[in-house]
Amino acid sequence: MRIAVLREQTANETRVAVTPEVVAKYVGLGAKVAIEKGAGEESRLLDKDYKEAGASISTSAATAVKGADVVLTVRRPTVEQLKGAKKNALVMGMHDPFGHEKEIGALAKAGYALFTMEFMPRITRAQVMDVLSSQANLAGYQAVIEASYAFDRAFPMMMTAAGTIRPAKAFVMGAGVAGLQAIATAKRLGAAVSATDVRPAAKEQVESLGGKFVAVEDDEFKQAETAGGYAKEMSKEYQAKQAELVSAHIAKQDIVVTTALIPGRPAPKLITKAMVESMAPGSVIVDMAVERGGNVEVSKRGEVVDHKGVKVIGYENLPSRLAASASQLYAKNLYAFLETLIDKESQELAIDWEDELVVATNLSRDGAVVHSAFVEKKEA
Ligand code: NAI
Repeated sequence: MRIAVLREQTANETRVAVTPEVVAKYVGLGAKVAIEKGAGEESRLLDKDYKEAGASISTSAATAVKGADVVLTVRRPTVEQLKGAKKNALVMGMHDPFGHEKEIGALAKAGYALFTMEFMPRITRAQVMDVLSSQANLAGYQAVIEASYAFDRAFPMMMTAAGTIRPAKAFVMGAGVAGLQAIATAKRLGAAVSATDVRPAAKEQVESLGGKFVAVEDDEFKQAETAGGYAKEMSKEYQAKQAELVSAHIAKQDIVVTTALIPGRPAPKLITKAMVESMAPGSVIVDMAVERGGNVEVSKRGEVVDHKGVKVIGYENLPSRLAASASQLYAKNLYAFLETLIDKESQELAIDWEDELVVATNLSRDGAVVHSAFVEKKEA
């Protein structure tokens, strides 16, 4: 079985799909691993370390994928990059299929079996394969680190002979995986932390991390969670009540981190221009939802905007800003899944196409798109 690992081509993508530690595990399963030269460089993983772990280094994508049964990536590759891989080769990565149906269709037609890791079900068995959690957790941490860097004051309370510095006030909007790590990180840095979410379950989680929970807790709020544990889109009335409460709160904050997302919908707009202007100059907002349309009216994708003295950070791909850690966890997530698709005796791929995890993540095979989310959409 041949596994190929590509050097990422997407701008600002610094992660890589395997680490030397994980290469050794694949080799242990009987695989031959070929890595495109320099694939790990930006995650501080060197070709010589991959070689020592048992991989071969290929001078180009074409040589790496030649005869590959499996291709591992971070982002969706192009048909061109995969040329030479076996028919029906598994291509595993974060393919971001929604809105990219054309690209997925082309890869399917070219004969690749795409598996997209973001679709991994959030069930106990698959926790170790959950790339959304592993990457969002790091992103939440990094968001606070970026905020602290842009902030021109200290986070913790400091009582010194020369006087007392008051603690920074940090507010986290959306207390999912990223938000909870942002709360924990701001807390560890010494900020006075509060947070909001539309899911009632978040209240206890916020409080257990030492944060204060801020939300309109009416009847709609009490039912605002889907069976899958995600947020629902709230009514206009709820949004208005929540906005009123939150806007008074935001005016008093030094740092705001927004992480609010609703699966399959644009990110909810939570912070208006007027709310940004209500904050004192020198305050910092990090809009973690910027890639999905943004939670903040004035944020710009990939930029830091100075809006009347308030810095609004809209960095894309926060996990890539701490690539060494992000690659380490992502590589483990991929390994945990691929391992279940390999027969330990024959050391060959042995895929149960009926398996829940396979059904959920497999986008294409035998030249066609097979995932229900896309097949049904096409027929509708
Ligand atoms: P996400 O990335 O989809 O959304 C981030 C957060 O924004 C969520 O907490 C959501 O409720 C919140 N949000 C949405 N609209 C909002 C609004 N208008 N105002 C304030 N907040 C808003 O969520 P993520 O991080 O993927 O987690 C979703 C759920 O899945 C959580 O309950 C989490 O604990 C759960 N989860 C379960 C796992 C498992 O069982 N294996 C693994 C990871 C997460």
